[in-house]
Amino acid sequence: MTQPLYDYTESYDENRKGPHLAPPPAPDEVFFADVERTLLGLPVGYPIGVPASPLTANSTWIATCASQGFNVLTYKTVRRSPTEALPPPNWIFLEGLEKPLSCEHDLQVARGNASLRPRDPRAYSMANSFGIPSPSPAEWAPDIARARKILRAGQLLIVSVVGEYEELTGQALVEDFVEVAVMAEAAGAPAIELNLSCPNTFDEGGFGARRPICETPDFAREIVTAVRAGLAPETKLVAKLSYLHRDALESVVGGFAHAVDAVAGINTLQIRVEHGDGGPAFRGTRTDPSRGRTVAGLSGVAIRDLALDFVRSLAFLRRTKDWEFDIIGMGGVMEPHDVRALMASGADAVQTATAATNNFELPRQLWSDGYPEPSAQDRLLALVSAALADSRWDFRTVDGIARDLRVSTEAVGRLMRAHPDIARRSAMTGRDGRALYTSPTKPVSLRERLERVRWLLAR
Ligand SMILES: Cc1cc2nc3c(=O)[nH]c(=O)nc-3n(C[C@H](O)[C@H](O)[C@H](O)COP(=O)(O)O)c2cc1C
Repeated sequence: MTQPLYDYTESYDENRKGPHLAPPPAPDEVFFADVERTLLGLPVGYPIGVPASPLTANSTWIATCASQGFNVLTYKTVRRSPTEALPPPNWIFLEGLEKPLSCEHDLQVARGNASLRPRDPRAYSMANSFGIPSPSPAEWAPDIARARKILRAGQLLIVSVVGEYEELTGQALVEDFVEVAVMAEAAGAPAIELNLSCPNTFDEGGFGARRPICETPDFAREIVTAVRAGLAPETKLVAKLSYLHRDALESVVGGFAHAVDAVAGINTLQIRVEHGDGGPAFRGTRTDPSRGRTVAGLSGVAIRDLALDFVRSLAFLRRTKDWEFDIIGMGGVMEPHDVRALMASGADAVQTATAATNNFELPRQLWSDGYPEPSAQDRLLALVSAALADSRWDFRTVDGIARDLRVSTEAVGRLMRAHPDIARRSAMTGRDGRALYTSPTKPVSLRERLERVRWLLAR
């Protein structure tokens, strides 16, 4: 593991001064400046980047990330009012959690502390609790202009914004989102990302943490459509979400799909985090230095499969509903393989925060891999897997999947024969005798068992 760029032992303000141990700039040949792709309708190089995080806290940090070949850079969430970070520690490693959680996980509590360090540099998880700190607009607006100037052709700046969720609710919060988005646009941001997914919405009123905004689809729609109406048509808009199961994702994205240029996700997962002795691992609020902050955001390898599932479901919905936005995938990306997997699942760009602080060489590794690109077959495979896992159906026919995805029955049939492990063929058949398939992750139903017994008896 190289020396981390972020100094976990220091406060957020100290870290904002710049990377702890700045890496050398990437050699020119590694830097991918050829403008070949588009993202949000804008030209970008290889679409690897760093999401809103302390690694993109200001133009100094953004310059460091950009110099390493990260091309899609999301400026850490800014607000209308200056807001201090919660007391340190803010970002800690967690015990165990060296493997991805499953989408049905029942992890209630994670444990960690500020002195813990990971055993494996490619497989660790972290929790953070910062409380969305922000400098004042008088500071961040000129800094956004600086960040934009630093970037080369093929590098894209997105600015993340949030409304004052601690104080405002309803229409007042919607208007605050619009106001801060318009300020970021005026500062020169070509693209605005709405943070609808923060897990650290700490409530001083004594109720712990609130759920992320994206879990309330009507409110998310109001915010996105009001911001879209407030921005110039050429300014790009991104909605950032937390992990949601397919049905919840459909309901929230369905509300604003035509108003955004991209959907980004996943944000960290809201979870209880305790110290080894059982108390909260994070302490101190803005009004009470002794009070524990019980809930924090989980990131790193633990959330990798959730991110894959999110992107796969989103890509499936986009395909079947004729939505046209890009997908910016993130969550648990530790190495080149994870970038490839998210792209094959349908991501148009991939970002990494938790791993980037310890492995800023990821773009170089991708470059030595020849900048991997998923094939059309890889993407179709992910779409077929998502169709098979669709919770609205117990079983699917090859025809039904082909109709949903608007591809030929032959293409789906060929793919399923070439990858027999993506589907389980049921002992039951459709009314017209057609074969029925489901996802191998779905349990064998009682009806299927009975059908199997009937078939055996009939032989
Ligand atoms: C320390 C830290 C701070 C973060 N701050 C923000 C933020 O201000 N706004 C935001 O939208 N996401 C924020 N995130 C979430 C990341 O952008 C990303 O969605 C998440 O960490 C998952 O990616 P990862 O597993 O590569 O870290 C933060 C994540 C971390 C680890």
